[in-house]
Amino acid sequence: MLTLRTPAKINPVLEVLGPRPDGYHELALVFQAVGLYDQLTFQKKEKGVQLSLSEGPNDLAADDSNLIVKAAKLFITEVLQDKAGVQVTLQKNIPMAAGLGGGSSDAAATLRGLQWLFEVPVSEEKLADMAGRLGSDVPFFLTGGAALGTGRGEKIEPWTSSAQFSLLLVKTPEGLSTPAVYRSGKAQLTSGEKAKSFQALLKKGNTKEIVSALFNGLEPAAFYLRPDVKRVKERLMEEGVLGALVSGSGPTVFAVTSTAGEAKNIGEKFQGEGFEVFVTETISGGVERQ
Ligand code: C5P
Repeated sequence: MLTLRTPAKINPVLEVLGPRPDGYHELALVFQAVGLYDQLTFQKKEKGVQLSLSEGPNDLAADDSNLIVKAAKLFITEVLQDKAGVQVTLQKNIPMAAGLGGGSSDAAATLRGLQWLFEVPVSEEKLADMAGRLGSDVPFFLTGGAALGTGRGEKIEPWTSSAQFSLLLVKTPEGLSTPAVYRSGKAQLTSGEKAKSFQALLKKGNTKEIVSALFNGLEPAAFYLRPDVKRVKERLMEEGVLGALVSGSGPTVFAVTSTAGEAKNIGEKFQGEGFEVFVTETISGGVERQ
């Protein structure tokens, strides 16, 4: 038996360069892992893939629509030649359809989990290739920390960072569909320079400079589809946070605060209104054994 925890992410910079012939969009984006985790437990079985939730009703479909199941089946076919199976138990803490990469993180943790559980030699290139086929955000979670993503977001260049800051995450009750955000026609197109030049700011680690460079080209699209998300950002700014931005395709808004205490105090003002609120911070790791 093997237990892992795997983090959520925010995107301090997300630039949409333009549409691609394959229906995706060319991106340049910064990934930053944050200290909010799902937990996955893996147990060998003879064949097949079984997925269950560790808490609450056991109604999670163990079919191919689930990214954990897809990841496990891909690994079992391509690395284990269909000679084994696995039972996966998921404790879900990262909200779904939130722009926090929870499903992608679980998929990456499944690839890493099966590698460690079966102790098979598999190259990082092979794992990254399988991750990229599962979803554009999945390869990032194999490395964690901070990284630049290009292409669909699947080409990862890990970055060194000395930046550490407190975060408040506020998610509206209703999720937001990533394809709908891209398809809205409201994304702001930019060159990719903001994402690439962010590395110098992370190395230096000055929170004020980092905050002044926050940018998300999908934010106008998220606000267009969901005006209530715009209101969350405005309210956070009114509360005096250092900066706030929609995470990924939304609807979660992350706010950078001076201290964890400030994040907690402001978070309490959103609680009781149906929002999901998390006080967390940037982390330098990724998938970890428990
Ligand atoms: O790669 P993933 O399956 O996570 O993408 C989900 C959807 O988000 C895609 O089907 C596409 O509509 C949109 N997308 C995009 N360009 C990207 C990444 C995602 O248009 N670079």
